[in-house]
Amino acid sequence: MSSSRREFFTMAGAVGLSGLLGGVAPFVRPASAAGSLKIGLLLPASGTYAPLGEAIRRGAELYVKERGGALAGRAVEFTALDDESAPPKAAELTNKLVYGEKVDVLVGTVHSGVAAAMVKIAREAGVTTLDPNAGADAITGGLCAPNIFRTSFSNGQIGEATGKAMIAAGIKEAVSCTWRYAAGDEMVAGFEKAFEAGGGKVVKKIALPFPDVEFQSALAEIASLKPQAVYSFFAGGGAAKFIKDFSAAGLSGSVQLWGPGFLTDGVEAAVGAAGDGVKTVLHYAEGLTNPEDAAFRKAFEAAYGVAPDVYAVQGYDAMHVLDIGLTAVGGDVAKKDAMHAAMAKAKFASPRGPFEFSANRNPKQTFYLRELKGGKNHLLGVAAEGLADAGKGCKA
Ligand code: BEZ
Repeated sequence: MSSSRREFFTMAGAVGLSGLLGGVAPFVRPASAAGSLKIGLLLPASGTYAPLGEAIRRGAELYVKERGGALAGRAVEFTALDDESAPPKAAELTNKLVYGEKVDVLVGTVHSGVAAAMVKIAREAGVTTLDPNAGADAITGGLCAPNIFRTSFSNGQIGEATGKAMIAAGIKEAVSCTWRYAAGDEMVAGFEKAFEAGGGKVVKKIALPFPDVEFQSALAEIASLKPQAVYSFFAGGGAAKFIKDFSAAGLSGSVQLWGPGFLTDGVEAAVGAAGDGVKTVLHYAEGLTNPEDAAFRKAFEAAYGVAPDVYAVQGYDAMHVLDIGLTAVGGDVAKKDAMHAAMAKAKFASPRGPFEFSANRNPKQTFYLRELKGGKNHLLGVAAEGLADAGKGCKA
């Protein structure tokens, strides 16, 4: 068992192994410290998105550790389940956290399909919920609810920011290549809208089943189409493999590789020189000069021995938003209306830059243009400033 995997199991020890693995053994509620605040983490701890889940958890834990293990005077107790990025397991696992563990707050998850199923249960239950990554447009669109907050991005929003940046870079023709599920579909839709509005043309859309990493036929098709650029959404282990295969196929010299920043975040070391020149757009970058990022990066590296990535920031900020809500109600999570109202109005200096929500509780934020070189995502400039997603507000 890797050390990161062991760490996840230890932290979630109270849940029991079968719960962590999504098994169906009877659920036993562990004794929790009186007065403690129970935060349920639904995150991947296995599969291609496991490193993303780990970074989110570390970011969330760091925020709490920096405050002596408590938020608004309530000691925090994390309870985690591994969702395996498997949508069919989402309902059972969410029910375990909400009704079995009776968590005060739900935090999850990475995969859009898992998150959409989780949110349907969470909005019915009224449990305070923070999405620290999954971009499914519906979460802050059709499924929007007063108790649902997202500290990352929406898929359409980041697709739009990347499409604008590619137009600004003079690209006129692209092939998209992604995984076929909500994240890939919606990031391509947002990209295509902005790219075509700017005069670009998407000449072919290639989509592979999630989490397939057999890229050879897709790369052969790209080689025969010879587009100016490829726009790609992959993340975690799949992103590392795609970048390496793209380079090994000899495409790096003739076709520009672009994508939302998930393509290169967290995989810089794994791809090595094969990633040099990949351009991405993200709401985080190395080389930001705000003091909050400097402090965050220093603390994260001291705690975990690795540099933080966007997923860690999103986990850290989820706890910051929760802290603002809890502080407004003196730690009393039962005062949901007041707590959610304070969370919706949260405005603070995040490591990514200024953080605030649109009316639909999705961040309105700046997206940065970056280039991967020598194992670092170098900041090239701003791709879109203060960009809100298409969600108009929340009627529920
Ligand atoms: C998603 O499924 O929404 C997602 C997964 C990984 C990175 C970004 C988005």
